[in-house]
Amino acid sequence: MRVYLDNAATTPLDKEVFEVMAPFMLEHYGNPSSIHAHGRQVRAAIESARKTVAGLINASPSEIFFTSGGTEADNLAIICTIRSLGLKHAITSPLEHHAVLHSLEALEKTGEIELTLLKVDANGVLDLQHLEETLASQPRTFVSVMHANNEIGNLNDIQAIGEICKKYNAIFHSDTVQTMGHYRHDVQALGLNFLVGSAHKFHGPKGVGFIYVDSAVKIHPLIQGGSQERNMRGGTENVYGIIGLAKALEIAYRDMDEHQRHIQSLKDRMIVKLREQIEDVQFNGLSAEGDKSLYTVLNVSLPVSEMNEMLLFNLDINKISASGGSACTSGVDLGSHVLRAINSDMERGNVRFSFSKYNTVEEIDYAVDTLAKLYQKVIV
Ligand SMILES: Cc1ncc(COP(=O)(O)O)c(C=O)c1O
Repeated sequence: MRVYLDNAATTPLDKEVFEVMAPFMLEHYGNPSSIHAHGRQVRAAIESARKTVAGLINASPSEIFFTSGGTEADNLAIICTIRSLGLKHAITSPLEHHAVLHSLEALEKTGEIELTLLKVDANGVLDLQHLEETLASQPRTFVSVMHANNEIGNLNDIQAIGEICKKYNAIFHSDTVQTMGHYRHDVQALGLNFLVGSAHKFHGPKGVGFIYVDSAVKIHPLIQGGSQERNMRGGTENVYGIIGLAKALEIAYRDMDEHQRHIQSLKDRMIVKLREQIEDVQFNGLSAEGDKSLYTVLNVSLPVSEMNEMLLFNLDINKISASGGSACTSGVDLGSHVLRAINSDMERGNVRFSFSKYNTVEEIDYAVDTLAKLYQKVIV
């Protein structure tokens, strides 16, 4: 048995998704920009996928643009909005994914913007008063705050942040890569200007994503070229990726409640069993705090031991795939910028387990037993 507990990195493709993609690899190969029947058929399928995605998040199809994934969608929202609207100031948090942080830092480096990083506490909770005070002194600002953190799982109240942004006439982008397909998003109710999705995080294919662009915000494209995506993104579309993305999101919404219950119960079980079997186990951020945390992510902090240096390797040789959350600062490996920003104890062993609908109780028990054995060995 090999146990895959790294679903925040990527999820396995759903067979139902593959089945709708396959004909677009083999049979329906027309270029969607071609005006003949081969092209028109594929164009119709892309527009139907766009309609599906728009319907699920309560947007208009004209507000959905397909991209190569979450990174491109974040780059597009940030770089194109700041340049198109001539914004001079941006606010984000030190816990954002590098797709957001590095995009904003690049604009700061060229002197295009001044960048404010929100204060965060030791649990990774954002200081919304800091946001409000900064916006009060710099109204027309670009704000980027993720819905859920990909490492520690903290959920941010994007509804409340959206309201603050509206009050100060700021543009609000939320990196929703980790919550798309796991929670229901309604762009009308949320009051944000941009949200994004990446298919491989919800059992769709890799290398395809989308962005919702509020029709009230007029921006220039990131990728210049042909007139694809209504002049917003040049380049022949990733047709089967787009078809797969829409199907994966449709399935995610269809089965969301059932899968959420299943995954949450696995996570809860892991928390309880880890506490029972490993002395002084802790959880980073709000990871173990019920509905304040993404139900697919658990970031575990293990006691100080020699085991910590080789933790992921030891899990791997025990047939468990999980992800680093190392706070290591030695050598070239700077470790996790998220754990550093919340001042996690560098000596402890940090590992992120992330779950999907395919994980089982047996897999969770095996992972906990394996960890317990590894840590007992060190303690004795
Ligand atoms: C929060 C967050 N944003 C953006 C991305 C980038 O998405 P993609 O892999 O589709 O470029 C990821 C992927 O790990 C993520 O977790």
